Amino acid sequence: MTSSRVAPGSRLASRLGFSDRVFIGTAGRRVAQAIEEGLERVETGLADDVRVADPLADAASRYLYEAGGKRIRPVLTLLAAQLGDGNIDAVIDVAKALEITHLGSLYHDDVMDGADRRRGVPAAQTVWGNNIAILTGDILFSRASQLMSRLGERAIRLQADTFERLVLGQMHETLGAQPGDDPIEFYLQVLADKTGSLIAAATQGGVIFSNASSAYEEPLRVYGEKIGVAFQLLDDVIDLSAKPEDTGKVPGTDLRAGVPTMPYLLLKAETDDASIDLAARIDDGVARIADGADPSILDGPLAELRDHVGTSKTRALAHSWTKDAIAALTALPRGTVREALTRFAETLVERSS
Ligand code: IPE
Ligand code: IPE
Ligand code: MG
Ligand code: MG
Repeated sequence: MTSSRVAPGSRLASRLGFSDRVFIGTAGRRVAQAIEEGLERVETGLADDVRVADPLADAASRYLYEAGGKRIRPVLTLLAAQLGDGNIDAVIDVAKALEITHLGSLYHDDVMDGADRRRGVPAAQTVWGNNIAILTGDILFSRASQLMSRLGERAIRLQADTFERLVLGQMHETLGAQPGDDPIEFYLQVLADKTGSLIAAATQGGVIFSNASSAYEEPLRVYGEKIGVAFQLLDDVIDLSAKPEDTGKVPGTDLRAGVPTMPYLLLKAETDDASIDLAARIDDGVARIADGADPSILDGPLAELRDHVGTSKTRALAHSWTKDAIAALTALPRGTVREALTRFAETLVERSS
């Protein structure tokens, strides 16, 4: 890849679906340029890091990497690293390791969610079956650990602690809220664990491995975790509203499989007759799908849920988590990086795919 003939930041902007809102002015464009260069190194490195000598394992592990992805986590690592020494080797390795961890988690997630599509292509288990998809995720987790091990104990611990939280988030989502749990609080904790933990590691890792001031580590961790929750809340909204060609996924996959998402939980919290009726129709559809009915029987109720107050409240909640994320940045010096992180968070919560 070369940077000639392309305005700094424009490929970054198009990859993320961001306008030039994140990187403003001459200093902003310099940061964008640094991130663009860092991303190119991450990208080139990932292409090698997901290669496996065994041909079947190689095809399976490169499959979802080559299908695309927004690369939000590496962008955040690189952005945080501009508070320190920038795109040094350790920062590139951490960015790659966390993106590979994310990639591996997608293979497992699609098996768990019974999702048919990912990144615009058939989900891996629909191509190779569950076992190969799970084992491919495992290979990718090994690759991430190998990368982290080059950087020493702190990196290994960051990876291991993050992965444990991510897995517990997935496990708690699978088990569901238990009697005595508040379903909304429980769900927010699941989001913080399954998604916030990895995004937090991306921002925190950018600080640690760029040798930036350790005073920035905790604010950036909190920022990452909170935008992770906001990001996942938006994912719930997009899941109801988006066109499959925008997201590369089947809309409503989780709800059709009976996995509650925030719009549904907030619908359940409403006490008016129309809300109670809609919730009952969704529950009935989920039960019938579990008994073998066509998942499209929920198309109508899910379209109604999209226009329900539960969905607008989910969007509002995502904005409130974003606001708290930005508040965590007050510990940072005013300047280009803080501004870009602020705009990044604001833009992420406005996304539609
Ligand atoms: C998808 O994450 C899984 C979640 C945690 C919501 P992304 O939306 O970052 O997925 P890609 O990498 O762009 O495909
Ligand atoms: C994915 O969460 C979280 C992890 C992979 C850890 P979801 O299941 O909600 O995300 P999508 O909608 O499939 O991307
Ligand atoms: Mg899923
Ligand atoms: Mg899932």
